[in-house]
Amino acid sequence: DAGSKPTVLVSEKLGAAGIDMLKKTANVDASYGLSPEELKAKVALSDALIVRSATKVTREVFEASKGRLKVVGRAGVGIDNVDLVAATECGCLVVNAPTANTIAAAEHGIALLCAMARNVAQADASMKMGKWDRNTYVGTSLTGKTVAIIGFGKVGSEVARRAKGLGCKVIAYDPFASAEMAKAIGVTLMPLDDCLAQGDFFSLHMPLLPTTKNLFNDEVFAKIKKGARIINVARGGVIDEAALARALDAGQVSQAALDVWADEPPKWEGHPLVNRPDVVCTPHLGASTTEAQEDVAIEIVDAVVDALMGKL
Ligand code: MLT
Repeated sequence: DAGSKPTVLVSEKLGAAGIDMLKKTANVDASYGLSPEELKAKVALSDALIVRSATKVTREVFEASKGRLKVVGRAGVGIDNVDLVAATECGCLVVNAPTANTIAAAEHGIALLCAMARNVAQADASMKMGKWDRNTYVGTSLTGKTVAIIGFGKVGSEVARRAKGLGCKVIAYDPFASAEMAKAIGVTLMPLDDCLAQGDFFSLHMPLLPTTKNLFNDEVFAKIKKGARIINVARGGVIDEAALARALDAGQVSQAALDVWADEPPKWEGHPLVNRPDVVCTPHLGASTTEAQEDVAIEIVDAVVDALMGKL
């Protein structure tokens, strides 16, 4: 009966199969686009909260729940939008969906790699303005080029497999990756500076942590091969956006393809990157395939229900 079921607040759009599954064990309050105040009011009435990346689960949110919130489920991998210290202090578990959107993110990385190399977005925009310009959009070949994967985990290794299929040489930097796993895919792990010196394309796949924040800064851009290209489907915060703009201005980086931003949505007014023709932009679409969102919904609902049932 409704009274004995836990209440789960879902604050961002979750795949239908997940919601249906959740309804079997919980009262579901699917309320999207809540203001921080509305979110705080709702968590005081909820046993669990399921979010994607837009909801900021701050200390204030945990405190407003007054101990009722037992689980936060992140329908995705990165939990950088959840204050983990506050969660722990408030006795709240945080669970994620670690596998369901891996392939979607890797595919978006490859989509950006190809789109950037062949100026697909820029040429499309130009044709839609009535132009037939075959000179401006001469691209760069991928075959034989070196793709440096920075962060060789689940997504990075899937990007590596696919880049090899495109004829690229793949190298990677990851202080935690297994050399055996890399070898099995035909990827050479090496120190960051060696990757920086050798990569023609950099594809970033690390979580946002204090140690990775602004990892790509002026100093790092100064070490890369002149004219290299960069793709980011990880987190905006791993690149210093102003430093990337400077590197693009100097021709040190010739193009960038960015799915993620330091602020989401970015502050449009005077943004250093969004309006540049040498930057391809997408609005955090890495995990956004129909298939991945259905799978993520099921994976996170499973984890949240297990946590509510005390199985974790
Ligand atoms: C993730 O961390 O899994 C992604 O950023 C997914 C998302 O928020 O859409």
